[in-house]
Amino acid sequence: MNYRHSFHAGNSADVVKHSVLIALVRALQLKDSALTLIDTHAGCGLYDLGGEEARRTGEAAQGVYRAFADPSPLLGDYRAAVAAVNAGGEPRLYPGSPRILAQLLRPQDVLVLNEKHPQDAQTLRGAMRGTPAAVHQRDAYELWLALLPPRSPRGVVVVDPPYEQTDERARVTATLAAAHRKWAHGVTVIWYPLKDRAAHQRWKQQLRKLGIPKFLCVEHWLYDSDQPGSYNGAGLFIVNPPYAFTQTLPPLLQALRAALAPEGHNGELTARWLGD
Ligand SMILES: C[S@@+](CC[C@H](N)C(=O)[O-])C[C@H]1O[C@@H](n2cnc3c(N)ncnc32)[C@H](O)[C@@H]1O
Repeated sequence: MNYRHSFHAGNSADVVKHSVLIALVRALQLKDSALTLIDTHAGCGLYDLGGEEARRTGEAAQGVYRAFADPSPLLGDYRAAVAAVNAGGEPRLYPGSPRILAQLLRPQDVLVLNEKHPQDAQTLRGAMRGTPAAVHQRDAYELWLALLPPRSPRGVVVVDPPYEQTDERARVTATLAAAHRKWAHGVTVIWYPLKDRAAHQRWKQQLRKLGIPKFLCVEHWLYDSDQPGSYNGAGLFIVNPPYAFTQTLPPLLQALRAALAPEGHNGELTARWLGD
């Protein structure tokens, strides 16, 4: 386990992931019944954008700082979530998914966080002090299945692996298949990096075989022509997205694409059903 999210916090992928998560949870909260939010790969919870790791990559300049420089009101909820952990002005701290999800909790909702790396799990516990979140230090895939179905009638599982292991996609596919058998109506969000188009198509082909009816694919290709062999963007698979969310998604994605487009590129940020 070498991956450290502190090098990447607030990058363009975080902006899309966290903006979409906020919109998804808010859409689910249009109904009063309790939600259980489960974050299987939670990370540290809070990151120092001025710290050595973040400064070494400078990735936040293409992400959260672009979202703050962009005037679109559609990014207002995201900017507010980041502003909530800062004292004002340019953000210095970045809230990871645990702190963002904690901000969204209503009294009836439950937040379960999991992080396997011992040091990051300890940092996460500190970052979540004073919130009602439960913090686990287990294997994500074991916890994902063990907690399903949750006690509350509805819930969201957020799966955000680092993809440093070659079998990570296969583990995601196998665990999603088993999770769907235990909890067919549950909402699941799976983050992934986009590198090679052909490899991504092959993974989607594997996922089609699971026969999950409501399976949305959000894909953010940053550049107008792919950079062979390197990072070209990121996406989210969303199983069972609520209708209210899918209706608000196209304008949000359009605003995110425009805010995050690298110099000289338009990029592409789409949401399509896996079966289409
Ligand atoms: C991309 S980061 C998470 C970022 C976080 N979800 C956010 O949006 O702020 C992935 C995290 O997963 C952790 N991780 C890697 N493999 C894991 C496993 N098998 N079980 C639990 N955590 C794992 C890593 O230590 C890392 O902190």
